[in-house]
Amino acid sequence: MTETAEDLAERFEAFQAMKLKLDMTRGKPAADQLDLADGLLEAVSSEEFKALDGTDTRNYGGLEGLPEARQLFAQLFDVHVAEVLVGGNSSLEMMHDTLMRAHVFGVPGGDGPWSRGPVKWLCPAPGYDRHFAITQHLGYELVTVPLTGHGPDMDVVERLAAEDPTVKGIWIVPKYANPTGESVSAEGVRRLAEMRTAASDFRIMWDDAYTVHHLGPERDEVPNLLDACQTAGNPNRVFMFASTSKVSFAGAGVAAMAANEANIAWTRQHMAKQTIGPDKVNQLRHVRFFKDLAGIEAHMRRHADILKPKFDAVERVLSEELGDNGAIATWTRPRGGYFISLDTPPGHAREVVRLAGEAGVKLTEAGATFPYGKDPHDRNIRLAPSYPTLLEIELATRVVATCIKLAVARS
Ligand SMILES: Cc1ncc(COP(=O)(O)O)c(C=O)c1O
Repeated sequence: MTETAEDLAERFEAFQAMKLKLDMTRGKPAADQLDLADGLLEAVSSEEFKALDGTDTRNYGGLEGLPEARQLFAQLFDVHVAEVLVGGNSSLEMMHDTLMRAHVFGVPGGDGPWSRGPVKWLCPAPGYDRHFAITQHLGYELVTVPLTGHGPDMDVVERLAAEDPTVKGIWIVPKYANPTGESVSAEGVRRLAEMRTAASDFRIMWDDAYTVHHLGPERDEVPNLLDACQTAGNPNRVFMFASTSKVSFAGAGVAAMAANEANIAWTRQHMAKQTIGPDKVNQLRHVRFFKDLAGIEAHMRRHADILKPKFDAVERVLSEELGDNGAIATWTRPRGGYFISLDTPPGHAREVVRLAGEAGVKLTEAGATFPYGKDPHDRNIRLAPSYPTLLEIELATRVVATCIKLAVARS
């Protein structure tokens, strides 16, 4: 297939004439995915609002979360119930608050508030822009760490953590990472747990946002980092997070965190000044609706039935348009999660996003997947196929592929 720059410009203009309004920016569940959990809205009634231990979920209290909700998340994290706190609807908020507490008060095993600074934070990239935003907001210096296809480059992580006491931590999405879809290898987990850190209070922010978000029967499995840290003699090292935002309702799910008992006691003590307790009615709804981890996994298969054809459509159209020999672009083929990460030739991502915008397809801003919004090679684009319809995805992907070819042909 040899398309000239003129052919491509013609196709581009034809797309423009269609006055499209397509959006592949954020990883939001589509309405039919949200519909799957509508049973939640009936799971608690005026007759049945009591928890198993008789707690009136409508009232104040229960800072750690309902016992049965902690039990459910303990299964999800594969940890003990005492190592879990169940909160409100957003795990991002829990991550933010955890770092704020570290900033203001310091963490167990540390030598005071991180606000005394300076603090550097390791950011595997391409990564999740909202993670980077939290640590940037706190004034920490973001240090980009390359990814390998099976987690962060551990040679780099080990070196930076060992040589500099101002390196206080790292962001990691262990499974089906946003946006690369990769999962941390067993060796990566072991090295993270065992590595020497110059800071005595180094923390791993282990955001297991996509832990049950498989797209098919082939699954990535990541060993339990909390166990590994405990075995390695670094029990305080990790805070784990997850939520049902992309399991039940993105705006009305339940979030939870897990850590060893020292970190949980520390979190609880500070939380007690922040709130009287979380939304237990919603926690009860979730426990009644899903029952247990097997219930969540069965539900996630129904999500996969909706999501997989959308991921397949992106893959098919990109292969048709760009070939699959990597000559013009490369992209990921994730086994789970919410994103496809696409790399154009260096120096083209910004232009592709601009052109796609002109043709009516909104993409995540180029650079957003890197610290400070700056992709050093200007090549990474994050595609989020969940929200648009299948037809919209196909069309949007064709527009993006045409824009890549046009940008390359013009350069
Ligand atoms: C890696 C990651 N963590 C967290 C979130 C948001 O989590 P929550 O809805 O629980 O705040 C997202 C949403 O896209 C995400 O991609």
